[in-house]
Amino acid sequence: MEAIANGLILLVLSVGHAELWIVVINRTHALPIHDVRLKRLRHVLELLMVLFPIVLFLSVGLYTPGVLVGGDWNQLPFWWKPVLFVCALGFLGFLYSGFRHLLYKPPRQQTEHQSELIHIRQRLNQDLIGEGPYHYLAGLPFNQIFSVEFTEKKFELPRLPANWEGLRILHLSDLHFSGTLKREYFIELCRIAQETEPDLIIFAGDLIDEMKCLDWLDDTLSPMQAPLGCFFILGNHDWHQDSLQIRETLMKAGWIDLTTEPFLLEYEGHTLLLAGTEVPWMGAHPELKQPAIEEGSGAESDFLLLVSHTPDNFHWAVRQGYDLVLAGHTHGGQVRFPLIGPVFTPSLHGTRYASGTFARGSTVLHVSRGVSGIHPLRLFCRPEISLLTLHTTDSEDR
Ligand SMILES: [Fe+2]
Repeated sequence: MEAIANGLILLVLSVGHAELWIVVINRTHALPIHDVRLKRLRHVLELLMVLFPIVLFLSVGLYTPGVLVGGDWNQLPFWWKPVLFVCALGFLGFLYSGFRHLLYKPPRQQTEHQSELIHIRQRLNQDLIGEGPYHYLAGLPFNQIFSVEFTEKKFELPRLPANWEGLRILHLSDLHFSGTLKREYFIELCRIAQETEPDLIIFAGDLIDEMKCLDWLDDTLSPMQAPLGCFFILGNHDWHQDSLQIRETLMKAGWIDLTTEPFLLEYEGHTLLLAGTEVPWMGAHPELKQPAIEEGSGAESDFLLLVSHTPDNFHWAVRQGYDLVLAGHTHGGQVRFPLIGPVFTPSLHGTRYASGTFARGSTVLHVSRGVSGIHPLRLFCRPEISLLTLHTTDSEDR
């Protein structure tokens, strides 16, 4: 009985150890580090995660002090003590993340959430797996990569001008064209998204993983239209590619780059300021003062919307007074475990902003799970395209 209890303790310490390296992996993947170095680091840490439990069970469990075979913890060598203490802290962190996931509920600003599931493979009735990187993952059983959730969320925002009641924003993110999922998959997704007839469309970055797929824009994003415009920023995966060419091609297709300078959109007698940030990979955060108040015109913006590839810029946006922030990048974790939730999310906040709606002060953040990823694998974490409807706080029609 004691051996089983000690085995469980060793298991808990192994999980805590893995959690510590996952913390490192998530934070380093949030930084502007080149892909090759990140991959190397990740492989080393993953190897450590596998080796540590083996060493722990052999050394502490079977030899010195051999707690699985009648040994006493009091005989644990001195140098193991700080190591195991840190692993125990790691396990507490693991529990904290799990409870935070279980107890998550959207803030009061999100008043409604509906969703429709569309199985694209059945709908098109064709093989949608191409020859791109990691294509062998796409066909794994239970993979949800082709089951796209079209979500409709309603937000109640205090600074929204009354004339904008019901403004509809299509939030698209993380298409990751690589050839792994065929072009037809994305054509169909964009076609369905366009059918929602949004007032404006926003793409939050990570368009291209293989430059040969750049011409896929011709029948995916290029035909998309919205009365107030289509706006974009790029993401870290575009930064790894020829981002200049990706940017130019999108602009030629009629999409407006939000990172050159904030865009003032006059609508129904009020001004919507749309800004974008690709920090920490490209450029700098937008300067608000000059564009928000045009000299002489007195055209102060009534509502501030930021598009940021990573949700890590949320706290900066709160300090700047943005009303709404749209982000992607974290893909919801892509693989979520029952009870535990997401594990790998490239963010300085770990899994905290993996996906969903969050609020701080009067700023609301919506993090899309995105459509795809370089690894075409999704478990308990379907691809997502969102239609966000904005309401004023005194609206009765919600
Ligand atoms: Fe991404």
